[in-house]
Amino acid sequence: MNKQPFGKMADGTPVDLYSLKNKNGIQVDITPYGATVVRLITPDKNGALGDVALGFETLDGYLKDEPYFGAVVGRYGNRIAKGRFKIDGHEYKLAVNNGENSLHGGLKGFDKHVWQAKEVPGSDKAALELTMTSPDGDEGYPGKLDVKVTYTLTDNNELYLDYWASPDKDTVVNLTNHTYFNLAGQGQGDVLGHEMQLFAEKFTPVDKGLIPTGELRPVEGTPFDFRKPKVIGDRINADEEQIKLGGGYDHNYVVDGQPGVMRRAARVREPKTGRVLEVLTVEPGVQFYTGNFLDGTLTGKGGKVYPKRSGFCLETQHFPDSPNQPKFPTTLVKAGAVYQTSTIWRFSTE
Ligand code: GLA
Repeated sequence: MNKQPFGKMADGTPVDLYSLKNKNGIQVDITPYGATVVRLITPDKNGALGDVALGFETLDGYLKDEPYFGAVVGRYGNRIAKGRFKIDGHEYKLAVNNGENSLHGGLKGFDKHVWQAKEVPGSDKAALELTMTSPDGDEGYPGKLDVKVTYTLTDNNELYLDYWASPDKDTVVNLTNHTYFNLAGQGQGDVLGHEMQLFAEKFTPVDKGLIPTGELRPVEGTPFDFRKPKVIGDRINADEEQIKLGGGYDHNYVVDGQPGVMRRAARVREPKTGRVLEVLTVEPGVQFYTGNFLDGTLTGKGGKVYPKRSGFCLETQHFPDSPNQPKFPTTLVKAGAVYQTSTIWRFSTE
């Protein structure tokens, strides 16, 4: 594993960049700032290597206002309505940072912490372990929470994202990674030509604040049906209520099969380069977001500009606003209990 300086925090704390590589040329660069995936280099169908993740050249880019490029988001990834929820009748009030709602952990979520990094050597894989402690009351959440995220790159072209957390008081936890992918290469235009397949019969429709209404709605007959591969751009501007509310796709899908069991959530193929990404998870849901808020004002790696819909996210997760939705799978983690979840990104070509 290779390590190099990535930049300095405002207070002078140095932050590094770690590179995991496998025998097939796949490279994943990760910084402990936000446990962020900075670079994701994979071969195309001709063997040419390209970076398929949006991000910045140095730490400075990440210290400015930016939309969670590559970061681990938490303590609660996605939205909590009005930044409020109850545990045992006691109401907690979170930092509100997205209209009237709390998004991705609040004002200073896990994406804005410098994690502790530890290299974990292995023979046919390389791993980086990142840890942090979120104090009791952090952004309004109850309990001190110890957190660990391990990225493991295997020679089978898989990146494992293993999450672990344990609180000292009852709290809610929902961790995910917010990488924006463009399988044609970062900065190579929009992702509307990618073929998306989502293994989900249902999704969670939202209100105007992108909070789920509580309904699990069949995708059948809607622009949300990706059960068979469909080009992302085909229906993204459809005259349909949910598409309009999301400004495109910005919705949580209910992944088919049993939560807790590793299964496919998505398969994406980029026709020109032949790159394929499969996302597997034990989580009940995945947020499919098409970078609708990107607007060409951010300049990323190699001077590339990121216009609207120039990346897509597949945020494996529990459903948004679960703490206020008794019928959704619970995100409550009891004092002393262990939260554990895993997602796999599998890279191939076709
Ligand atoms: C998530 C949300 C989007 C947007 C992005 C960050 O994916 O669902 O609505 O807020 O994060 O820009």
